[in-house]
Amino acid sequence: MNFDYTEEQLELKAQIRAFCEKEIAPELRQMDDAQRYPIRTMKMLGEMGFLGMPFPKEYGGRELSYETYVMIIEEISKISASHGVAVQTHHALATWPIFTYGTEEQKKKYLPDLTSGRKIGAFGLTEPNAGTDAAMQQTIAEDKGDYWLLNGSKMFISGAGVADIYVVMAMTDKTKGNHGISAFIVEKGTPGFTFGTNEDKLGIRGSTVAELLFNNCKVPKENLLYEEGKGFKVAMTALDVGRLGIAAQALGIAQEAFDRTVHYMKHREQFGKPLSSLQALSFTMAELETKIEGARFLLYRAAAHLDQGKKDISVAAAKAKLACSTVAMETTLKAVQFHGGYGYIKDLPLERYMRDAKITEIYEGTSEVMKLVISGGIFGKGAKHETKEVQMLDKAEDLKTLIQEHVGSICWSGGRGLTKSGFEKLQKLAEKTGGDSGASRGAVRAGLAPEDKQVGLTGRTVAPEVYVAVGISGMTQHLAGMKGSGLIIAINRNPQAPIFTAADYGLVGDAEEILDQLLASL
Ligand code: CAA
Repeated sequence: MNFDYTEEQLELKAQIRAFCEKEIAPELRQMDDAQRYPIRTMKMLGEMGFLGMPFPKEYGGRELSYETYVMIIEEISKISASHGVAVQTHHALATWPIFTYGTEEQKKKYLPDLTSGRKIGAFGLTEPNAGTDAAMQQTIAEDKGDYWLLNGSKMFISGAGVADIYVVMAMTDKTKGNHGISAFIVEKGTPGFTFGTNEDKLGIRGSTVAELLFNNCKVPKENLLYEEGKGFKVAMTALDVGRLGIAAQALGIAQEAFDRTVHYMKHREQFGKPLSSLQALSFTMAELETKIEGARFLLYRAAAHLDQGKKDISVAAAKAKLACSTVAMETTLKAVQFHGGYGYIKDLPLERYMRDAKITEIYEGTSEVMKLVISGGIFGKGAKHETKEVQMLDKAEDLKTLIQEHVGSICWSGGRGLTKSGFEKLQKLAEKTGGDSGASRGAVRAGLAPEDKQVGLTGRTVAPEVYVAVGISGMTQHLAGMKGSGLIIAINRNPQAPIFTAADYGLVGDAEEILDQLLASL
């Protein structure tokens, strides 16, 4: 672990800072007012080798580490967060997926233009009904033999209309959920591919955002990126890399707002002394500096994971983005506050930093999504309850055959959908089949079964070969006590009962009648 910048990194930092001050800073106000994509300076960044930073030289890249990459994005974003997001979208969401998942032909065709900045890349995932719930894609790609036919639209796409190469997600098989999504490389100029008007935004006004519109757009067969049905994976892994870039952008905003506030507090005097001598303000700055440094360590560690070739950086990237974007918002709000009236007017860039910071908590996964990913890392998939493909049975006779086929331990468990006599039938079935009996928490509380029979988070954990849940609704706490069972069979009068999402087989009907039939035939 090395906490210092290398000589090369320091030189690159100085080079990019000098460029941003000379070329980008003078155009910032106009870019922000007119909401204009900074194509001139983006092209210059490409010529200087800053649009293909981490990619191999054989594809025109510079082979810089991801640690250096995030450092450069942070540096660019100190001056212009709009350039920061444009550079990172181009790298992580367009160039990276083509480099990682593309065929050799695709890489040879697209990468040299992207890594040199001759062409700009963009990413099309978000749709009106697929924002945070990214798997709800409605754009469709039909296999027409010689080509893919795309129809639908994307919204809030950074660089739309300016970019030349788009990595676009679309449904190729609606019946397969996220496994029916595929990724495509779509070039600007393809007939049937047009753009909506630019959105008028609060911040990062240099990074233009608009719709992508696909109307019978014919995409060449060879432009499928990776395999059919693997587009969600392409998008999610690209977003993991993207989140590092957004974290770096947020960190740049936070650091610059912080540094400017330190300078102001040292020089601005009120009540006969500098603001820095007021503890209410200087303690806040102490807290902010600690948080900024903490966020930077999370970011550099996540980037180091990528450099070390770790396959899954999702949680590390989510922590970095959450920490950096939160501190960016907090720092810029304080920076405006501590600058008072000067913070609120456009002569100084503090109000712009505050406007620019907000989006870092929203795009490439909101802070809430970051917490979802991080909590998934802590608690595993169990944080969500898994749903199975339940096979519905027609009659009690089918159930009997199924149980007879699965010789072994069995547990007959009842819920509030049964009466006292239903529980007696369950007990008889347990005795007849040499099995155990159980009950839901609700049934125990209703006095239908003794407390020691309760299965669930607050009761016993059972894992028989066959678990028969009769009249149990299937609350998560109950599922926690029986989900290790080999085969789960649910009997319930309500076809919508959640228990069916955890069961392998289901039978809808009057539970007590079904128990009678089983007692007679087993
Ligand atoms: N890497 C690899 N695979 C992943 C993955 C990852 N990071 N995340 C999920 N997957 C896989 C899962 O393993 C799972 O695979 P199986 O179906 O084979 O089991 C599949 O994807 C579905 O996973 P989930 O069930 O966890 O997915 P979900 O539908 O519940 O969604 C989510 C999870 C985290 C909420 C995800 O939808 C998400 O990240 N949403 C936010 C979308 C987003 O960031 N949009 C940004 C738009 S682009 C942008 O903002 C750019 C810009 O403007 C600059």
